[in-house]
Amino acid sequence: MSQNEQRTAYRAKLLTFVGDPATTAGGACFEEDGLLIVEGARVLAAGSYASLGSQITPDTVVVERPGKLIVPGFIDTHVHYPQTEMIASPAAGLLPWLDTYTFPTERGFADPAHASNVAEFFLDQLVSCGTTTALVYCTVHKGSADALFQASEARNLRMIAGKVLMDRNCPEFLRDTAQSGYDDSAALIERWHKRGRQLYALTPRFAPTSTPAQLEACGALARLHPDVFIQSHVSENTDEVKWVAELFPGHRSYLDVYEHYGLLRRRAVYGHCIYLDDRDRARMAETGAVASHCPTSNLFLGSGLFDFEKAGVSGMPVALGTDVGGGTSFSMLQTMNEAHKVARMTGHHLTASRMFWLATAGAAQALGLEETIGTLRAGSEADFIVLDPEATPLLARRTALAQSPEEWLFAFAMLGDDRAVLETYAAGERVHRRA
Ligand code: GUN
Ligand code: ZN
Repeated sequence: MSQNEQRTAYRAKLLTFVGDPATTAGGACFEEDGLLIVEGARVLAAGSYASLGSQITPDTVVVERPGKLIVPGFIDTHVHYPQTEMIASPAAGLLPWLDTYTFPTERGFADPAHASNVAEFFLDQLVSCGTTTALVYCTVHKGSADALFQASEARNLRMIAGKVLMDRNCPEFLRDTAQSGYDDSAALIERWHKRGRQLYALTPRFAPTSTPAQLEACGALARLHPDVFIQSHVSENTDEVKWVAELFPGHRSYLDVYEHYGLLRRRAVYGHCIYLDDRDRARMAETGAVASHCPTSNLFLGSGLFDFEKAGVSGMPVALGTDVGGGTSFSMLQTMNEAHKVARMTGHHLTASRMFWLATAGAAQALGLEETIGTLRAGSEADFIVLDPEATPLLARRTALAQSPEEWLFAFAMLGDDRAVLETYAAGERVHRRA
């Protein structure tokens, strides 16, 4: 056995999924005394210690984490790495926030050294929060995407990222053109898509900052590369929705603009989706495009309340995103917390199992990566985290009183943050341990 095929067995409680707990009885699998066996970079087996203990060979390294919980690494389906340092910037809603803070901050990413510095810090934040995969917006600068991918590749993280496309309605210093945006994106796909664990996402920022010519060019690239991801924003804010109606007259809806340019399909991920109508939701469901719900951002910017009930009825794929810097935390546990409250405000109950599903296996399935990440299924990449129910005195007291796995998990979702993440593993290697 070569060094990199080392077998390691982690003994702890385990949570994994075989289906969406909202629609599949027994979708969530909780093992009180579980074993996760990793060989090299992949999962060999996961299940009860009783059933798998016999696979502990004499040269297996056994890691005991009594009382802790192993879950698949979190997947953040919407985040802006260049906005890391401008998190918590106050503004009266989305459009003034973009003009006052976001665009001036993103200007700095013309400097590759700055981009690399922030990319490293951003990835430190992600892994300390237990996030092992994210869909990441870079800036308009091609080098900002190189910086993120280089930093991710060095840590062997599975990241999906793209250079922002933006050729109007933003400061001159942040503009590309339909042609340069096409050429830069094509070159980045060539360089990074499927290189190791890196994946590319075509990233038109949102309809208002792209000319029809740029969206047309983006659609052409999407057709050339059917397995490349697409990410953008849609129907986040009422002023934005009105603006799109003025800029793109003759479309049935904001979402229809993206559909018109060939940007609605599987592996297309749209941030927010607050002001969609039923027809839009049906098109998302029919095309397999994914809604990324970003509750901390929607509350912080006062954008509105995502409708879980209508999303569920329509069958459109849904996942969770932090949307930092519009979002206020890199933690997917904090994102669950706020998602739960947003759901409550619209008369919907999100169980803890469902929230963990949305942040792991559900996201992987929505992204078409269910064979690769998001579960602890045999053969999948060994991205997982170890959560600590005694991370804080309050969490320790609450989890000690939990009457069921659901209540126990719910405490993590309401009270947890980066402090609850004891360790993070990517492709079988530890990439973070809490100080
Ligand atoms: N819409 C267009 N750009 C952005 C952005 O950077 N953040 C959020 N939340 N919405 C956007
Ligand atoms: Zn965003």
